[in-house]
Amino acid sequence: MVKNNQLKDKMKIKIVKNGPYIVSGGVPLFEETIITDEAGHTKGLSVESELPSQETYTLCRCGESKEKPYCDGAHNETGFDGTETASRKPYVEKAEVYEGPELRLTDAHEFCDHSRFCLRSGGIRNLIARSDDPEAKQTAIEEAMICPSGRLVLWDKKTDKPFEKEFEPSIVFIHDEQKKCQGPIWVRGGIPVESSDGTIYEPRNRVTLCRCGKSENKPYCDGSHWMTAEQKLKFRKKWGLDEKKDD
Ligand code: FES
Repeated sequence: MVKNNQLKDKMKIKIVKNGPYIVSGGVPLFEETIITDEAGHTKGLSVESELPSQETYTLCRCGESKEKPYCDGAHNETGFDGTETASRKPYVEKAEVYEGPELRLTDAHEFCDHSRFCLRSGGIRNLIARSDDPEAKQTAIEEAMICPSGRLVLWDKKTDKPFEKEFEPSIVFIHDEQKKCQGPIWVRGGIPVESSDGTIYEPRNRVTLCRCGKSENKPYCDGSHWMTAEQKLKFRKKWGLDEKKDD
């Protein structure tokens, strides 16, 4: 569905304090499922269906609604704590940089929604180290561009430009068949996300918002929808996320 520019300008996701996401501007809604290759690595998303959406609608953020993905007011009954804990630093300031012969990777670990698209063919860092090989380079580009959370961005070292898919502004509910659970809300095409305090998060082409209520990096997803506390701790330790927490 192509939206005219006037409508696009009105698109916004407003976070309600300890409550839902209010989506305005007629943002289209889709549901997609993570697909895997023969080796069991996640490799993409299949378009499932477009869901009914209106000019303005309200999406569950606490994970308790019986009308998911829409809000049914359950957050009021459960005492949902939706405190926004994510750093407000711009992506490039958070990201670590990995250089390969032809590609540069920027990686802001805290955005990770653990969809695992970067693990194919020996992992994206391995591919970047071999990015003078056309096949490795192409796979690395595919892996980075599908990363729903925008944790990974791949740059062409010749032009200094990022590889990004052009998305129509839209919202996708990710279903993680391999982990047997619902994944995050994938926000595409730079739709502004407004904090409950009225400030706007850095607009990006790809971000994933928590809809299970358990993320420790709200409003963003941190993989808590399927990871155990031990798995999360291991990941945080590996990338030194607790030391990097800056605000
Ligand atoms: S949806 Fe991923 S942490 Fe909540």
